[in-house]
Amino acid sequence: MSWLLVVAVLAGFALGPSAGTDHIVGANHGWNPNINYSLWSGNQTFYVGDLISFRYQKGTHNVFEVNETGYDNCTMAGVAGNWTSGKDFIPLPEARRYYFICGNGFCLQGMKVAITVHPLPHNATSKGSNSRGSTGAQEEEAAAAALGTRSAAWLATLAVAAAAVVAFR
Ligand SMILES: *[C@@H]1O[C@H](CO)[C@@H](O)[C@H](O)[C@H]1NC(C)=O
Ligand SMILES: *[C@@H]1O[C@H](CO)[C@@H](O)[C@H](O)[C@H]1NC(C)=O
Ligand SMILES: *[C@@H]1O[C@H](CO)[C@@H](O)[C@H](O)[C@H]1NC(C)=O
Ligand SMILES: *[C@@H]1O[C@H](CO)[C@@H](O)[C@H](O)[C@H]1NC(C)=O
Ligand SMILES: *[C@@H]1O[C@H](CO)[C@@H](O)[C@H](O)[C@H]1NC(C)=O
Ligand SMILES: *[C@@H]1O[C@H](CO)[C@@H](O)[C@H](O)[C@H]1NC(C)=O
Repeated sequence: MSWLLVVAVLAGFALGPSAGTDHIVGANHGWNPNINYSLWSGNQTFYVGDLISFRYQKGTHNVFEVNETGYDNCTMAGVAGNWTSGKDFIPLPEARRYYFICGNGFCLQGMKVAITVHPLPHNATSKGSNSRGSTGAQEEEAAAAALGTRSAAWLATLAVAAAAVVAFR
């Protein structure tokens, strides 16, 4: 069991030091017209360090970060970035509202999403373990990702991993 935890923690580090929860816009529906993304975003809780990712057919759609005016009116008002790869992972480093739209007309067909990113609930290394409402492996992954943001925790985990290796010999 502890061995599994070590594996889960190390897997968390493999994703990178700031990896958080990846929120896939629209879940299995992806980033497409005629989907109510307010329903999707209302069902997610975003924390600083999480990612929002957009999956769509490259060349057909794209992603622009705009401000509230741009979101409300489907314009480029306050444009702050654009992504076009078809599988875009966008970091959410700040606790604030973020607004994303499709930049080639499909915003008017519902391709717009607004989210609120919350500060991390705790400073402690246990942050995220129970507060995200997830279970089992998801919870361990969230905890591992949260740990990954702190180099001190990283060193502590190396110690745990070393201890586990010793224990298994
Ligand atoms: C999305 O659904 C919510 C809740 O049912 C509704 O209030 C909102 O108007 C819908 N948005 C669109 C663009 O249909
Ligand atoms: C919201 O999340 C719950 C639990 O994961 C899921 O059952 C439900 O279908 C989701 N609703 C929407 C609109 O995605
Ligand atoms: C949307 O655009 C109209 C005019 O184009 C403007 O008056 C309004 O303030 C905009 N919406 C927001 C939320 O700013
Ligand atoms: C969005 O950006 C536009 C252009 O910079 C600006 O005129 C507008 O006031 C901004 N809207 C908000 C809500 O900040
Ligand atoms: C998209 O972003 C790139 C930088 O990443 C910028 O050079 C380009 O002008 C942007 N395009 C638009 C249409 O804003
Ligand atoms: C988080 O840490 C800061 C400084 O390190 C401290 O001022 C703050 O009270 C802490 N917050 C919580 C919720 O522990």
